[in-house]
Amino acid sequence: MICGDNLKALDDLQKQGVKADLIYLDPPFFSNRHYEVIWGDEAEVRSFKDRWAGGINVYIEWMRERVVKMYDVLKDTGSFYLHCDWHASHYLKVMLDEIFSERNFQNEIIWSYKTGGLSEKRWARKHDTILFYTKQDNFVFNVIKEKSYLDDTFFKPWQKKSKELGIQQDNKGMFRLVSPRDVWDINVLHPHSDERLGYPTQKPEALLERIIKASSNEGDLVLDPFCGCGTAMAVAHRLKRKWVGIDISPTAIGLVEERLEKLGAYKGKDFEVIGMPTTIAELRVLEPFEFQNWVINEMRAKQSKRLTADKGINGYYEKTIFTERGGIQIKQSDKVGRNVVDNFESALRRGKYEKGFIIAFSFTKEAYEEVARVKREGLDINLITVEDLLLGKVKI
Ligand SMILES: C[S@@+](CC[C@H](N)C(=O)[O-])C[C@H]1O[C@@H](n2cnc3c(N)ncnc32)[C@H](O)[C@@H]1O
Repeated sequence: MICGDNLKALDDLQKQGVKADLIYLDPPFFSNRHYEVIWGDEAEVRSFKDRWAGGINVYIEWMRERVVKMYDVLKDTGSFYLHCDWHASHYLKVMLDEIFSERNFQNEIIWSYKTGGLSEKRWARKHDTILFYTKQDNFVFNVIKEKSYLDDTFFKPWQKKSKELGIQQDNKGMFRLVSPRDVWDINVLHPHSDERLGYPTQKPEALLERIIKASSNEGDLVLDPFCGCGTAMAVAHRLKRKWVGIDISPTAIGLVEERLEKLGAYKGKDFEVIGMPTTIAELRVLEPFEFQNWVINEMRAKQSKRLTADKGINGYYEKTIFTERGGIQIKQSDKVGRNVVDNFESALRRGKYEKGFIIAFSFTKEAYEEVARVKREGLDINLITVEDLLLGKVKI
């Protein structure tokens, strides 16, 4: 796992001579939206920008720089799948023809799904496009036959020839096994699916499974340079492929770690994570929600529900043995003062917490004095600097 801009990460991979058998990418789209999604019942506010000032040309040039590097790390026999939608698929296809050559275009796969929000103004937009390219004619393609159901007014099971024609039957009707088409009906993740991690653009594993099974073999290397919460990594791991995942968001990388642990793959043993923020300077410039997620992760705590967060508690922990509940407030700033302590004290008392932690880069003298007073009044508030957290000095 590499945390960072894939522009640089791809350069590093190339310098190390890494060659991928399969590249799948699902980049942020040109859609002028700004995601801000609360997930589950915890207020894990996550957002990532897919807003591109400067219009489509800026977006395409941003993508081109990266795809050229992907082309370089792709093996000559490798396959490349770019996942996009109607916003930019036509521009991206022209760009890919230029890089891979139109001769090496293989398919425009339509992933068709049903979701709510059907338009009455035009045909509802219910598909994504996946552009499949290779570098030459010789590439891995494992045909995975699928069921194609027949109209049973023409094929009765008792017809003599049905066996010869390879016709079989299951509870849905009669079918023949055929090579898969380029239109795929795969359900999007159900809101209550076990697979769902809450990452705004998480893709279903069934989609990745098709691509990885068809275009790689066991032991091959799968690369996802915009890996999000790691759908491609999880499927590659399950299907015994090697993998490299890149994402610029430390929150995403943290999620992939957890996801892989659930599959029995552990950091330090089965995979490495590089590029996560490790210095004060790096933490200072993180996006606010990334900083908050980083602190919560480091403290092994949980995100507060949104309502509580609005009232000054960003995270909390519960110790079941001593039934201790602690609240956490996070400030990505310096010289945090007495007023923050006072407000936090009220929030803790309101929420009946026994202990509290404020995390910031530094605190004023008055803040420490105020904490001493609050302690004398029976509430244990602790001021923690980011440096102490980085050094692993904090125990909750
Ligand atoms: C559409 S999401 C990918 C979702 C993924 N397919 C999944 O199933 O979870 C796009 C991802 O690209 C990441 N990203 C955006 N710009 C990036 C960059 N320059 N380098 C690496 N990752 C980037 C975002 O953080 C986001 O997680």
